[in-house]
Amino acid sequence: MKLFRRLWRWLKVTAVLLLILGAVGAYIGWDRFMRVHPAQAFGDPVERFKYGSIGAEQDAGIPYWIFYVLPRVFPDKLPGPGGYAAFGVAWEPGEELPIGFSKRRIGFDRVANTCAVCHTASYRTKHDSNPVLVPTGPNHTLNLEAFFRFLVDCAKDPRFNADTLMEEIDRSADLDWIDRLAYRFLIIPITRKRLIEREQQFEWIYRHDFPEWGRGRDDAMNLTKYFMIGWPMDDSFGPTDMPSIWNLKKYRAEDGHRMNFAGDSHNAYSVIIDSALGLMGAEPKDKDDFLGHIDWLVDYLSNKPAPSYPFPIDQTKAAQGEQLFAQRCASCHASKRTGAVVPVAEVGTDRERLDTWNEKAAREANQVAEDMGIERKGLVEEPLTGYVAQFLDGIWLEAPYLHNGSVPTLYDLLLPPEQRPQRFYRGYDVYDPIKVGFVTEGPQAERTGTLHDTNERANSS
Ligand code: HEC
Ligand code: HEC
Repeated sequence: MKLFRRLWRWLKVTAVLLLILGAVGAYIGWDRFMRVHPAQAFGDPVERFKYGSIGAEQDAGIPYWIFYVLPRVFPDKLPGPGGYAAFGVAWEPGEELPIGFSKRRIGFDRVANTCAVCHTASYRTKHDSNPVLVPTGPNHTLNLEAFFRFLVDCAKDPRFNADTLMEEIDRSADLDWIDRLAYRFLIIPITRKRLIEREQQFEWIYRHDFPEWGRGRDDAMNLTKYFMIGWPMDDSFGPTDMPSIWNLKKYRAEDGHRMNFAGDSHNAYSVIIDSALGLMGAEPKDKDDFLGHIDWLVDYLSNKPAPSYPFPIDQTKAAQGEQLFAQRCASCHASKRTGAVVPVAEVGTDRERLDTWNEKAAREANQVAEDMGIERKGLVEEPLTGYVAQFLDGIWLEAPYLHNGSVPTLYDLLLPPEQRPQRFYRGYDVYDPIKVGFVTEGPQAERTGTLHDTNERANSS
């Protein structure tokens, strides 16, 4: 009897200890892996646009220390020297991350993207002057395709393992033993697996029969097809320029205005939701929080004015130009047609972008958003017929021109098509106020930029 009682007491004590241990373990697990910490709040709207989290760290985030060491472990996979800067992201002095990258702790620190990575322009007035950054302008220097390939290629490389990465992480980070164990046995292997899983959806960016997107371009509708609605790869290919997203209040759906280059979306609210879903990579966990960011973005982008031209203007020439504009251009760019689709046969530009999207894709993508319980007018469920006659506010900073960025400067755009340059370098940020656009030839442009050849697929001007 005595023995039995002792055994019983022993069992009870052990059970209580185990329970406590389990609870502590669960707490640590939750704290170090899942606990959602509030994102850094930014009082200044420009800072918020550049660095503020929209919530993408949850499903699309990369663990901070892995993000940090990748360029150090895999410098051979970068398109040039300078770490992430080689991809043409805008990096402000003294900032921990480039513009368009947000950091948030969900258990551990994670890095994700914001709209500003593609929608922040930079230019320099001279080769030796500092870049001027224009949030909401098009990032014409970003080599997005190379960045996507970098992440997948690193994950596929045998050097992406706990030993190699931890060695590099330990050089810079001061992690405690729990975090070090977590990185070694969970975070590194899981991140590797997640990145490799994306390879199939990214198949088309490895195709040798397609030209490179080049700096400042993005095959956005194909991204939507392969990631948002999960379609298998088809043969379409249509990278476009990054657009500006300032002054969005100029678009009025009630006047027949459409958004995106081919007019595939109804209004700013819809485009912004779809863009944000693309960044989130999954259904938002906290829908109110998500829609709060959307409302803020709609308001900020609607009211943000286009930047004015920073170089001197010859008023006599401008007055002559104004008359020519009224005669030759206003019928599409300052009229009822502005913001609406002009048939591709009439405008005569490259048609490949149109073939990357269609009515069925629009219906399915709209269904995905609806299934998440998100209400928006959404993508236009009609065949695509042409390109939107652009509003020309802030046009000086939209170079290179046309939806596919196939014409380097305004000067070239005003020439007959057969006289426009057929080969030029895009992505160099020194401005040319004579031709109005960026410098696209010469040794520096060739070194920094990527070659655009108008004879290649989807590139014609
Ligand atoms: C990976 C790059 C990238 C990111 C990130 C991105 N966009 Fe875009 N965005 C584009 C491209 C490219 C287009 C043009 C697509 C097309 O028409 O083919 C576009 C189009 C748009 C348009 C339509 C512009 C017009 O005049 O019709 C808006 C508005 C917009 N984006 C807002 C956003 C917002 C807000 C975010 C963040 C939630 C965001 N984008 C994130 C690349 C990006
Ligand atoms: C028939 C209607 C029409 C007329 C007339 C017209 N445009 Fe356009 N314009 C368009 C369309 C449509 C696009 C978009 C084409 C594309 O991107 O493929 C465009 C694109 C542009 C762009 C490039 C915008 C960007 O963001 O890259 C500029 C600049 C431009 N037009 C200026 C002019 C000027 C200047 C004139 C007069 C000399 C003119 N256009 C006459 C319909 C027209």
